[in-house]
Amino acid sequence: TTQKLLKSELLSFTSAEESQAEASFYNNENESVSITVVGASGDLAKKKIFPALFALYYEDCLPKHFTIFGYARSKMTDAELRTMVSKTLTCRIDKRENCGEKMDEFLKRCFYHSGQYDSQENFAALDKKLKEHENGKASNRLFYLSIPPNIFIDAVKCASSSASSGNGWTRVIVEKPFGRDSESSAALTKSLKQYLREDQIFRIDHYLGKELVENLSVLRFSNLIFEPLWSRQYIRNVQFIFSEDFGTEGRGGYFDNYGIIRDIMQNHLLQILALFAMETPVSLDAEDIRNEKVKVLRSMRPLELGTMVIGQYKSHTKGGVTYPAYTDDKTVPKGSLTPTFAAAALFIDNARWDGVPFLMKAGKALHKKGAEIRVQFRHVPGNLYNRTFGTDLDRATNELVIRVQPDEAIYLKINNKVPGLGMKLDRSHLNLHYAARYSKEIPDAYERLLLDAIEGERRLFIRSDELDAAWSLFTPVLKELEEKRVVPEYYPYGSRGPVGAHYLAARYNVRWG
Ligand code: NDP
Ligand code: BG6
Repeated sequence: TTQKLLKSELLSFTSAEESQAEASFYNNENESVSITVVGASGDLAKKKIFPALFALYYEDCLPKHFTIFGYARSKMTDAELRTMVSKTLTCRIDKRENCGEKMDEFLKRCFYHSGQYDSQENFAALDKKLKEHENGKASNRLFYLSIPPNIFIDAVKCASSSASSGNGWTRVIVEKPFGRDSESSAALTKSLKQYLREDQIFRIDHYLGKELVENLSVLRFSNLIFEPLWSRQYIRNVQFIFSEDFGTEGRGGYFDNYGIIRDIMQNHLLQILALFAMETPVSLDAEDIRNEKVKVLRSMRPLELGTMVIGQYKSHTKGGVTYPAYTDDKTVPKGSLTPTFAAAALFIDNARWDGVPFLMKAGKALHKKGAEIRVQFRHVPGNLYNRTFGTDLDRATNELVIRVQPDEAIYLKINNKVPGLGMKLDRSHLNLHYAARYSKEIPDAYERLLLDAIEGERRLFIRSDELDAAWSLFTPVLKELEEKRVVPEYYPYGSRGPVGAHYLAARYNVRWG
């Protein structure tokens, strides 16, 4: 249908030669791609990975000869896997179309193999099945490690030695968390590199696959009006805000070992910050972009306890409904001090950003769900209109808001005159509201990232030196928080979070947007 994405549309950033190579890879009768979802019985596989693979299939974005295998310890037949997967598939791309037929076609390409994560023998049996499906074609294999991190290495060891491709590529998508601190992350990288080259490792941060995060560089580097303003000269502060209106529901066991700083700030928000603040890359090549991201991360000051606030949600009753405290979760140890909220001020000590506070705020069980970037500009010098705004100078400054989710939008707050004979100023929005501007559904982040991994495009995946730089910024403060057993500020479930976050921002003359 016309709704469907053309492959050429997806590849519009690649050269004609690259597009041709991609096209032949997609249609080549002699090539096959096998995607193995390791941990296929789990939450992420059901919720995100299989639906994203179906969306890619629906959009004709999967290579002609592809096979999907689920791998996990649970006993399941192919038919049972298909039933499980079918429950999570939707016709979200084109709701008018009955995509039942497409779903059936897709499900016929899905198979299951039960095995242990540390068994060479079980992976060798998988290899045998993969070969049968590859039917003598060049085999390209993608393994998606959708399993808890303590079994990553076992699975990589077995997959790489017993089920890697003999005559094509082998790539492994690794889910977060990539360690808990610099030391454990370095150990994980070292172990992974025993079995894989860096170019085979695709460390996923799904925030990099979100449409508005992808658009950040386009906004900056293809619009003359923004790039000249993108520095300490014009920008007063930048805010990266993540909030969820629900608690750790069901994932308390995982969460308690990590906390919001490791779960959201060190990866999702820091990655967005790096893209926001990096210098212009030499090209759009993955290595050029990742080089710039590393540089900016390495120019940052490690976080300090004095410029941070941590919080944890407590129970709250509203309208006769009682919402639980974090520690009411049965999988969370009683008396846990793990932060479910954090706010911090970060600084980039380079010529472009010297002195500009980059504020981050992330929390669970807050009053709303959303993720956004707010860029607050400086005051207009000698503003003729100061009197009209009175002393509330904040009201007179421009602000650019990139609403990553929900209801994607980019809007710029400007000052304008209220129409009429008097001279009264008003604040208005120049608004790019995605739902109004584009009729097509925005793809899920996992769709873009899976497609990139199949194509070998590394731009949106985290390189090991980026990861090291990110952990160096957070490890000292995480250690200090844990060693000193810092007690979080408690905030009611469904509130705006601890008031401490407002005092923190006020220290930098900033108001959270
Ligand atoms: P699950 O806890 O659901 O685990 C996935 C599968 O791994 C399970 O179905 C189970 O399969 C197997 N498994 C679970 N625990 C163990 C264990 N202790 N030893 C051996 N095998 C085990 O994880 P998720 O699907 O939630 O997440 C997968 C990965 O993705 C994790 O690294 C997680 O941090 C990451 N992630 C998850 C997100 C989410 O929303 N769920 C979001 C972002 C990242 P079986 O018993 O059949 O072998
Ligand atoms: C994951 C975190 O990485 O991102 C979760 O582990 C969080 O705690 C999730 O809920 C948020 O992702 P999204 O795409 O729903 O904003």
